[in-house]
Amino acid sequence: MKITFYGHASLGIQVDDVHILVDPFITANPKASAIDIEQLKADYILVTHAHQDHIVDVEAIAKHTGAVVVSNFEIVSHFEKLGIEGHPMNHGGTWDFEFGSVKYVNAIHTSSFPDGSYGGQPGGFVIEGERKNIYIAGDTALTYDMKLIPLQTKLDLAILPIGDNFTMGIDDAILASDFVECDKVLGYHYDTFGYIEIDHEVAKRKFFEKNKDLMLLEIGDFIEL
Ligand code: NI
Ligand code: MN
Repeated sequence: MKITFYGHASLGIQVDDVHILVDPFITANPKASAIDIEQLKADYILVTHAHQDHIVDVEAIAKHTGAVVVSNFEIVSHFEKLGIEGHPMNHGGTWDFEFGSVKYVNAIHTSSFPDGSYGGQPGGFVIEGERKNIYIAGDTALTYDMKLIPLQTKLDLAILPIGDNFTMGIDDAILASDFVECDKVLGYHYDTFGYIEIDHEVAKRKFFEKNKDLMLLEIGDFIEL
């Protein structure tokens, strides 16, 4: 499994030869100007919630690639009206895709579309690939629901928001890492805007002091599990 950071909460996940994008917010992110969405491959686009900073490039990439949008029922219905193929889910549901299973799990946040219309309830994803399992938390507060995840899934990586203000910050993300029983964390949803700027060294040191590994990738960089 190869995981590429495209800035903010945007990720590329490659499982064998299947390409998955998560929450593409690239053309509206000045920090991600080196990423050309025309070059991105996508068989699926996973969308955690309807906020602008998670959906802005979904339509263009889906139309360009023919990718299937996987999200909650309301978000999938929104994109189906634009002629995009979708796979609707809702909280607690799991579906077996060609690359592995995807469970849509709880997130504590909100989920309106940029025009204010209802975007369903926000979520995160637990992906069980053939060899590796990951949790993509989405925008969320720390929540006890995270403790449900390791009852069923042994995670290899937790992707957690760490920017604070709109989501968990560093200290809550450390507790979230305990809750999901995964000490290997990829941080996201930080530095994009003034409200969510973090001190990288402080963040890494706090994780290190709890015997945890916080990875912060440069935009365009990737890790392999
Ligand atoms: Ni949000
Ligand atoms: Mn967000």
